[in-house]
Amino acid sequence: MKKKALGLVSLVAAGTLLLGACSGGGRGADTAETNGEAGFAADATIGVALPWLGTQNWKEADELFKSELEAAGFKPLVQAADNKVTQQQQQIEAMIEQGAKVIVVGAVDGTQLGSVLEKAADSGVAIIGYDRLIENTTAIDGVVQFGSVRTGELQGQSLLDGLAERKGAGPYNIELFGGGPADPNAPDFFEGAMSVLQPKIDDGTLTVVSGQTDFTQAATPDWDNAKAQARMDSLLSGFYSDKQIDGVLSPNDGIARAILASSKQAGQELPVVSGLDAENESIVSIWAGEQFATVAKPSADLVGRSVELIQTLQKGEDLPAPDETVNNGKKDVAIYQLDPVVVTKSNAEEVFANDPARLALLK
Ligand code: BGC
Repeated sequence: MKKKALGLVSLVAAGTLLLGACSGGGRGADTAETNGEAGFAADATIGVALPWLGTQNWKEADELFKSELEAAGFKPLVQAADNKVTQQQQQIEAMIEQGAKVIVVGAVDGTQLGSVLEKAADSGVAIIGYDRLIENTTAIDGVVQFGSVRTGELQGQSLLDGLAERKGAGPYNIELFGGGPADPNAPDFFEGAMSVLQPKIDDGTLTVVSGQTDFTQAATPDWDNAKAQARMDSLLSGFYSDKQIDGVLSPNDGIARAILASSKQAGQELPVVSGLDAENESIVSIWAGEQFATVAKPSADLVGRSVELIQTLQKGEDLPAPDETVNNGKKDVAIYQLDPVVVTKSNAEEVFANDPARLALLK
């Protein structure tokens, strides 16, 4: 695993060097002038291709990558793709043309980047997946993320905890929402959540009144809050005109707030709703006793870890041993994993103790 990152970079460098005298490791083409051993220049261009800026975490990533890469001495080239695969492919092509040495990618669609990333790897560019896995390609050196299945488990558990805390003894009526099907995180979040919820569905503690328990039925195209709200409206009018809904699994905070808005409009007592991202608006909602929980996965930590990996590559070193590997259909990908944390009203002050901007929302 450890060799992988430089494997891609060195392969190309080695190819160039085959014709000439080759010495010590073959880091040739882009060696920094000041450092004969460097992987690439200390002020190299680093590309960052984000999927969209539609949720707070991606806006934070956009700003943090610009400032952190610049602070580390690199030239950041950060772009977002408005959730469109072709746009992201073109942005990555342009980053290759502009000489990026590493491209960090939050994929719009984990399966659609194979050829452009292979082109990048062939030009000696290292690829780091950001937050989302990149599937079906060997052109990926590592992924920095909060474990997606683990995140889903926390979402499922927070829903169960919230039901016990707010809705008395079961059984409980619930509904299930998933994220955008093109995003490889979305089925993983759902799988993690269902590993916690399914046994409770099987033993009768939970009833999914609509019967819509498959990811394909629960998914929210493009992570679009309005589409989630429309689905919630029809679930409530179709299945809950004579019933209380007690809880809803939500894959992120934007969808959680859409579910709560729909429930209010339908005159329901607010259901317990899970979330993700610790978005400002959801922190306010949690503090006000509406949304029950979110899962925090701080962008600052994710960007910080990505920049560390880029610095390792810049020095010409191998990436560190991964926390785990995940098979993406073509190879076992190195995963650098951070720990997600459930946030409710009871622990919010503690979780955000070192995050002044979020702490300020708790009032
Ligand atoms: C990210 C979430 C985000 C969602 C929609 C997912 O891949 O992990 O943080 O809410 O995309 O943008």
